[in-house]
Amino acid sequence: MKMFSVEIKKNRHKSINDQNSLDYNIELSNKIRMLKKEKNAVILSHYYQSPEIQELADYLGDSLYLAKCASKVNQDIIILAGVKFMAETAKIINPSKKVLLPDINAGCSLADSCPPYEFKKFISNYPDAIIVSYINCSAEIKALSDIVCTSTNAKKIIESIPLNKKIIFAPDKNLGNYLIKETGRELILWNGSCMVHEAFSLDKIIQLAKENPNAKFIAHPESTSPILKIANFIGSTSGLLQFVQKDKSKSYIVATESGILHEMQKKCPDKFFIPAPVEDENCSCSECSFMKLNTLEKLYYCLKEEKPEINLNNQIILQSKIAIDRMLAVN
Ligand code: 13P
Ligand code: SF4
Repeated sequence: MKMFSVEIKKNRHKSINDQNSLDYNIELSNKIRMLKKEKNAVILSHYYQSPEIQELADYLGDSLYLAKCASKVNQDIIILAGVKFMAETAKIINPSKKVLLPDINAGCSLADSCPPYEFKKFISNYPDAIIVSYINCSAEIKALSDIVCTSTNAKKIIESIPLNKKIIFAPDKNLGNYLIKETGRELILWNGSCMVHEAFSLDKIIQLAKENPNAKFIAHPESTSPILKIANFIGSTSGLLQFVQKDKSKSYIVATESGILHEMQKKCPDKFFIPAPVEDENCSCSECSFMKLNTLEKLYYCLKEEKPEINLNNQIILQSKIAIDRMLAVN
């Protein structure tokens, strides 16, 4: 009996705490909306952000969509709720704007796996090759590239390059291997990867699919080859989102960062979405720890104090803009 009443008290405290934090989030969101108007700012958010940040976004989408938005918005300040390479891309595309990132440490394991100095040495071995870089890389890598791509347009970009040209693809070897299969082209790959998409467990996914025989398994092409081999559908975040809206199935096991489930559930309220399991049971590895560094509170202070701001060297802006503009032209 005593234990029971302790449980009730605990639950009551928990629900009071939940209510308090909900009220706090609503208040913060309202303040952010007001400040955004006052300062003539716009929020661009990636699908991997937390639901409360996605709800505040003026534009919500995948890497390609955010890059396109950055070229079109006319507000004075762009807040990029995503990671650093996305904020850098927005700055390169629209250098006259003030670009803010709520947490300056929101990096990316894939971008980090390709240091510019080493990449420079790597590409010097293939002087005739066209260099295609996946947008998930630093501004310096983009500046060393001929053309940029995202997971949405990667196939199209590779196919736009003449057949007689050698191609270096960096930094994601998993997306690179997928593109080799899709296009039949030989690509020289940089050995980089994303820690989130490499964390999925093949055995656990197979087991989960057995337990949910009607669920389709869908995956982002940053996942490893054995995972992609068993997928019913492979696509970028926006590709996966479009697929679940058009497809007739009622449930899906989703192998990409779990933030996308928020928009999937909103678009398909009658469907059931299961995040793909990861190898380490004690880790919430299907959440990108970099993406999740951004919080409502940090977003509020970022807008209020107009920092941290993204600043890039002019030469890097000019060089990387050529490669990004070529991508946007192909689209
Ligand atoms: P897309 O937004 O192109 O689907 O890429 C996902 C990703 O890894 C972003 O960090
Ligand atoms: Fe980088 Fe992977 Fe996080 Fe995307 S999900 S930002 S590729 S670490």
